[in-house]
Amino acid sequence: MRRILARLALASLMLTLCGCGTSPTPTIRVGVALYQQEDTFISTVAQSLQQRALEEEQARDVKINLSVADGRGSQTQQNEQVDRFLDQKYDVICVNIVDRTAAAVIIDKAQAAGVPVIFFNRQPVEEDLSRWDGAYYVGSPGAQAGELQGQIVLEAWQQDPAALDRSGDGVVQYVMLEGEAGHQDALLRTKYSVLALTEAGVPVEKLANDTADWQRGQAGIHMTQWLKEFGDQIEVVFANNDDMALGAIDACLAAELDPLPFVVGVDATPPALEAVEEGTLQGTVLNDAQGQAREMLDLACDLAEGTAPQVEGGHYVWLEYSAVTRKTLDAASAGAGNQSE
Ligand code: BGC
Repeated sequence: MRRILARLALASLMLTLCGCGTSPTPTIRVGVALYQQEDTFISTVAQSLQQRALEEEQARDVKINLSVADGRGSQTQQNEQVDRFLDQKYDVICVNIVDRTAAAVIIDKAQAAGVPVIFFNRQPVEEDLSRWDGAYYVGSPGAQAGELQGQIVLEAWQQDPAALDRSGDGVVQYVMLEGEAGHQDALLRTKYSVLALTEAGVPVEKLANDTADWQRGQAGIHMTQWLKEFGDQIEVVFANNDDMALGAIDACLAAELDPLPFVVGVDATPPALEAVEEGTLQGTVLNDAQGQAREMLDLACDLAEGTAPQVEGGHYVWLEYSAVTRKTLDAASAGAGNQSE
C-alpha cells in the first residue's frame, strides 16, 4: 500500500513539473481571404498580419492560427474559401472582398455560422455592413488620401508656380491614373485630389484619365500613349496608387523626358519611398498597412475572446493617412538621428 501511495505521489509531482496538468494555451483561429495576394499593397498587409499575430500571441498569451487564402480576383473562388473557413469553425474571418458589392452573401453566411467578419481595404456598402452587428470594416478614408495628394501639389504650386506650370498659362494640366473601376479608393482619391486644387483656386485642366487597375505595367502603357499625344504639356500625374505612379515614371524615363512631370502616388511602398528619395516621385501618401493589420488582429482577438469592441458606429475602424514628401522623409531621418545621439 505504501509503495502504491509513493508511486501516486511521484506521478503527481511529475505532472506538476512538466506542466501537463495545466490547461493548454487557448488558440484563436483567424481565416484571412485576400482579393489578390500579388497586389503590392495587399501583400504588405498580409505580411503585417503575420508579424502582428506574433506580437498579439505574446501580449495576450494565446496561440493565433492565421490561415491566408488568395481569391486571385475571383468572387466565386473567394466565396468558396469563406465557406471553408466557416465549415471549419474559424473564430473570426477577415475578408478583403473581391467585389465590394457582394458583401451581403458573406455577411449572411457568417451570421448563420455565428462567426464575426472583418472586411478590410475594400469597403462594402453601408447597407450591407449594417445587416449584422458582427460585421466590421477596417480601412482608411479614401477621400483623405486624395486631399493629401492634392495638397502636395498645391504646396508646390504655392512655393514655385513657374516650376509646376511649365507652359506658363496659369493652369495645371494633369492626367489621372485610376485604380480599379468601382473601388472606393479609386473613386474618392480621383475626386478629392483635384478638389484640393480647385477649392484653393488653382485652375486645372484634365488632359486624360484611364483606369490602370492599380498596376505598374498598365499605367506605363497609358502614360506612353499620353506622352505621344501631349508630350511635355503634362505637368502633373495623379496616380491612385504608387505602383501606377511608378509605371508613369517608367514611361517618362523611357521617353527620356526631362524634366519629369510632377508625379504623386498613394501607399508609400518601399520602391515608392526610394523614388521619393531619388526625386522622380514628388510625393506619396502613407496607407498604413501595419496599422490596419494591428487593428484587425486586435479586433479579431477581442471578438474571439468575447469582448464587445467599441468602434465607430458599431462597425468601423478608421486609420489616418499621412503625406510623404522628400521634406517629411528628411525631417523623419533627422528626428531619428537626434534620438540616437
Ligand atoms: C491601395 C492599392 C491597392 C488596393 C487594393 C488600395 O487602398 O492603395 O495599392 O491595389 O487598395 O484593394
